[in-house]
Amino acid sequence: MQKIIVMLGAPGAGKGTQSRRLSERFGYPQISTGDILREMAKAPTALGQEIKTVQSAGKLVSDDVLAEVIRARTSQPDSKNGYILDGFPRTLSQAKLLDHLAREQGNDIILVRVVTSHDALMKRLTGRRTCATCGEIYNIYSRPPKVDAICDRDGGPTLQRSDDNAESVEARLKAYEESTAPLIAHYTKSGRMIEIDGERPVDEVFETILKVIERGRDNKKIGRTED
Ligand code: AP5
Repeated sequence: MQKIIVMLGAPGAGKGTQSRRLSERFGYPQISTGDILREMAKAPTALGQEIKTVQSAGKLVSDDVLAEVIRARTSQPDSKNGYILDGFPRTLSQAKLLDHLAREQGNDIILVRVVTSHDALMKRLTGRRTCATCGEIYNIYSRPPKVDAICDRDGGPTLQRSDDNAESVEARLKAYEESTAPLIAHYTKSGRMIEIDGERPVDEVFETILKVIERGRDNKKIGRTED
C-alpha cells in the first residue's frame, strides 16, 4: 500500500530537516505547505498578498486555502506512490480532510511527531538558514555551512526566513499552542501517532524515524522527551 508519512511538531522541531531526508530515502515527494504558501505569497494577487500577511504575522492560513493546496499537490503524478507531509495537518479540520483524502487515494497514514522542548525552538528558528537554491537547511549555532552563508551542496546563498525573527516566532509558537496542540491531543488519544525525541542529533532522529516506519505502529513513544 502507498504511504503518507506525516511529520508533526512545533515550529523548529525539525520536520523539514527530517522530511528532506525521508524524501531522499524513499523517493516520495516532500510536500511542505509552508514552502508552497511562501511561493503563493509571491503572486501579486489578493490571495498572494493575504497569505503573505498571514505568514509574516506567524498566524495560520485558512483551512479553505489549505484544502485546495493539499488536494492539488497530492494529485500530482509524483505523489502516486506516496508522499511526505511537512507542516500539514495543523488543525482538526485539516486532519479530517487528510483522513478523507487517504481513503480516496487508498493510502495508509503514518503519523510521526518530533518532540522538542520550547527552550530549544527559539534558538533553532532564529539560527536557521536555508539555501535559496536547493533548500538545504542549516543552523548558525548547530550546523553552519563550511563557508559562511554559502551552501555546502551547491554554493547557493543561505538565507534567513522572514518569519524567523523573535516576534514572528513567538506568534508561530502561540498559533501552534492554540490550533495544533488540540490536534496533537486528538492523535495521542487515538493511539495512531508515534513520538520521537527531536533533541537528539539529526542523524539519530532520522535513524529512529526509519526504525519506527519499518516497524510500523507498535512503537508509540520511542526515545521521547518531555515537552
Ligand atoms: P512552515 O514553513 O511549515 O514553518 P513551521 O511549522 O513554523 O516549521 P519550520 O519550517 O519553522 O520548522 P521545522 O520543524 O521544519 O524545522 P527545521 O527542520 O527547519 O510554515 C510557515 C507558515 O506557513 C506558518 O506559520 C503558517 O502561516 C503557514 N502554514 C504552513 N502550513 C500551514 C497549514 N497546514 N495550515 C495553516 N497555515 C500553514 O529545523 C529548524 C532548525 O533547527 C534548523 O536550523 C535545523 O538545522 C535545526 N535542527 C533540526 N533538527 C535538529 C536537531 N535534531 N538538532 C539540532 N538542530 C536541529
